Amino acid sequence: MKPLLNTPASRQSLVLLRDLIEEETGNFYSDQNLDLLAMKLADRLAELGLLTFLDYYYLLRYDSGRAEEWVLLESVITVNETYFWRESPVIELAALQLVAELRPRLKRGPRIWHAACASGEEPYSMAMALLEAGEQGVDLLATDLDQRVLALARQAIYRQRSVRYLPAGWLEKYFETLPGGRWALKPKVASRVSFRRLNLIHGSELENLPTFDLIFCRNVLLYFRENRVLELLPRLARLLSPGGWLVVGASESLLRFAPPLEFQERNGLVIYQKPLHG
Ligand SMILES: C[S@@+](CC[C@H](N)C(=O)[O-])C[C@H]1O[C@@H](n2cnc3c(N)ncnc32)[C@H](O)[C@@H]1O
Repeated sequence: MKPLLNTPASRQSLVLLRDLIEEETGNFYSDQNLDLLAMKLADRLAELGLLTFLDYYYLLRYDSGRAEEWVLLESVITVNETYFWRESPVIELAALQLVAELRPRLKRGPRIWHAACASGEEPYSMAMALLEAGEQGVDLLATDLDQRVLALARQAIYRQRSVRYLPAGWLEKYFETLPGGRWALKPKVASRVSFRRLNLIHGSELENLPTFDLIFCRNVLLYFRENRVLELLPRLARLLSPGGWLVVGASESLLRFAPPLEFQERNGLVIYQKPLHG
């Protein structure tokens, strides 16, 4: 049986649950999107044999098996839409210009972090662009909250929908065909990216990271409330090396958050740079 959504009590419990999910993951469902959240949760509640949102709230807060349940829930409530070569001009800018600019001032190889990598298409696009640019020795770390998409990223097998916007010839060059219209990324690209789970809104999880010269945090801030973004931006800025850049999604302007970074327009694209000095 599915839970009843339209009683005042169920609405109240759903709001409690919504706030708990926001607290733990940053993903916020506004009042207008509560029905969407209810729909996303309904099947899981049914699987667990729970009849009310309040039961599920207690499970997530107090049950001894709550850690495993959060792993499942994170994959239910996140939006993992992504594809290869998405918003590609900024990937080209990074691979063809920014990495080359970094080299003279670094005593080590450049480090790039894809902070919400979903099933891997974004960091793998960067790995291919770096190969095309002849850039060697670049460290690529890719992280996400959702363990299900991270498993897909490590598997590196994709359907036609994911690869449809790749530049001409890259599919044949960097993938093997598999039965059923699937494509397996070749190890020479796949081996360039390391994947890990990381929750961006848990400040403590960011503490042990090294500094990066480029951070991609694309198409995830839009799911967070403003106060979360305000907390996160100084943390990301601290993780940038002097002169390093933060890249967000094309529709995610940071100007209203006054980040501790300099606004920079490059090739008609907006990126955010940590000052070289000071
Ligand atoms: C829409 S995808 C963006 C993927 C890729 N960056 C792109 O632009 O194509 C958003 C990703 O953010 C992840 N995400 C959501 N909340 C997160 C959090 N608190 N910490 C880390 N990743 C999170 C989701 O799991 C999802 O895979």
